[in-house]
Amino acid sequence: GFIAGVAAAGRRGDAASDAPTTTVDVLFGTQTGNAELLAGELVSGARAHGLGGRATALDDVTPEQLAAMSHVLVVTSTYGEGEMPDNAGLFWEALQAGTAPRLEGLRYAVLGLGDRGYDDFCQAAKLIDTRLEQLGAVRLYDRVDCDVDFEEPAAAWTAAVLERLAAETGADPAAAAAPAAGPAPAAARPRSQWNKRNPYRSRLAVNRLLSAPGSAKEIRHYEFDLGDSGITYTAGDALAVVPVNDDALVGELLAHLGASGDEEADGRPLAGLLRTEREIRTPSKELIADLVQRAPTSELASVVARGDRAELDNWLWDRDVLDLLRDAGPAAPGVTELLPFLRPLQARQYSISSSPLAHPDRIHLTVASVRYGSRDRRYEGVTSSYLADRIGEEGTAGVYLQPNASFGVPADDDAPMIMIGPGTGIAPFRGFLHERAARGASGRNWLFFGDQHRATDFVYEDELAGLRERGVLTELDLAFSRDQAEKVYVQTRMRERSRELYAWLEDGAHVYVCGDASRMAKDVEAALLGVIAEQRGRGGDDAAEYLADLRRSKRYVRDVY
Ligand code: 2AM
Repeated sequence: GFIAGVAAAGRRGDAASDAPTTTVDVLFGTQTGNAELLAGELVSGARAHGLGGRATALDDVTPEQLAAMSHVLVVTSTYGEGEMPDNAGLFWEALQAGTAPRLEGLRYAVLGLGDRGYDDFCQAAKLIDTRLEQLGAVRLYDRVDCDVDFEEPAAAWTAAVLERLAAETGADPAAAAAPAAGPAPAAARPRSQWNKRNPYRSRLAVNRLLSAPGSAKEIRHYEFDLGDSGITYTAGDALAVVPVNDDALVGELLAHLGASGDEEADGRPLAGLLRTEREIRTPSKELIADLVQRAPTSELASVVARGDRAELDNWLWDRDVLDLLRDAGPAAPGVTELLPFLRPLQARQYSISSSPLAHPDRIHLTVASVRYGSRDRRYEGVTSSYLADRIGEEGTAGVYLQPNASFGVPADDDAPMIMIGPGTGIAPFRGFLHERAARGASGRNWLFFGDQHRATDFVYEDELAGLRERGVLTELDLAFSRDQAEKVYVQTRMRERSRELYAWLEDGAHVYVCGDASRMAKDVEAALLGVIAEQRGRGGDDAAEYLADLRRSKRYVRDVY
């Protein structure tokens, strides 16, 4: 497609037209929607450079289709322990296979999104980048791996890659069609003016305890007022909340460091910096490495030396930055040396538990407060405790929307929905049910919910009963794990109802899973495969293929963390 870009001036953007424009295929792998948003921006950018562009989820591309593409930009996040995001797993499986075609004609570049706090940083991007090269594709620009503050490096990469592409294809930005060139890329929803750098100050209108006293958990219902923000959301999106650290913890840390807090750091008083800019609860990997070097006889150093990752995680679970500084004793770094090891304080994302059709002016969240004591210390989740204790009902917090285009009610109001969400995993499904009620959708809805005890943890019980009566919630299966001698989990209920479950799947049901990724989501997937295998009676491979088809047709989607 060399030079072809120039010929089709004026008809750009209509990628499906007969214009011999070079088409840039932007392939995204996304878990929370960031990669998808960036993909939309790349497509717009390509069009502005006079190129054709289209965004596609990685899983919607076969290796054969890939081989027929000329210019490919891959944007992918990494999920869990170096795994492919949910909509890239099938693509990766096919690309790894010995049968994958050679890709000599392909020019490509990869952008990775990740979090340096995890091992296997940007692993999905690295794997795809390497494999494409192995298959003979030619890299037109080096991969960049972005940490959580991805906006700037991603924008720089985007600009550089588009320039390279335009130069290679002879595209002419001046030839790009008028602003309204073609339909907006499907992946892109307009980006709100509110973002990480510029969060909206939203009033917390409601902060209510959902779990009953006596519960092992503290689950809360929050309502944020959208005021005149102009924020419009969709059931299934997430809300990012910008936290502020606990003053008491900041005070303890300052006291330990022998600092008053008035010292200037990064151009502002140290106390303020620690309060709103730095992660002071969870030690970074860099800090851990530094402390091990400085204080080789510390307890931390001995745990690290044993080389058992699980043991280290377990040891760190009830230790914060202050504990590690104390553990390192006189060898611990002072303020100046410490600051570079404290990561930027990050916004935390929560699945929205309302629907805009029922609550256009508010965003509801359903959040478990993280609190526990150990030795002589109290530990709290930074943002969940900020929400619960430090905003106050009339106060405001910085928030912005994190759209999740792939997690929402089916476009088809008649399609059945199966929702599996134990614990706070119920959050988006409350929104889904409100949405379907408001739409008068006729599709059947089935919720699997559970927690430890019915008496204390059955959140939104009255509301769910109301939805049952109105016929919105067709089936409700409950799994209270500790109300009897043996554990009962949502997947126990799924297996008990395998015949009906499979019948719903055969009727075109969409399956949603929300909640704990480390164990629940894996066990639920295994149960789902078991149900399919049992009901079809054609073995495990057949069941896996059935589930893969569900995934491909976006009828099996997860919001897990
Ligand atoms: P447990 O705490 O009694 O083990 C919400 O946290 C609910 O999910 C709780 O009832 C919890 O049970 C349960 N749970 C824990 N591990 C799970 C798993 N692997 N799969 C499904 N549910 C799980």
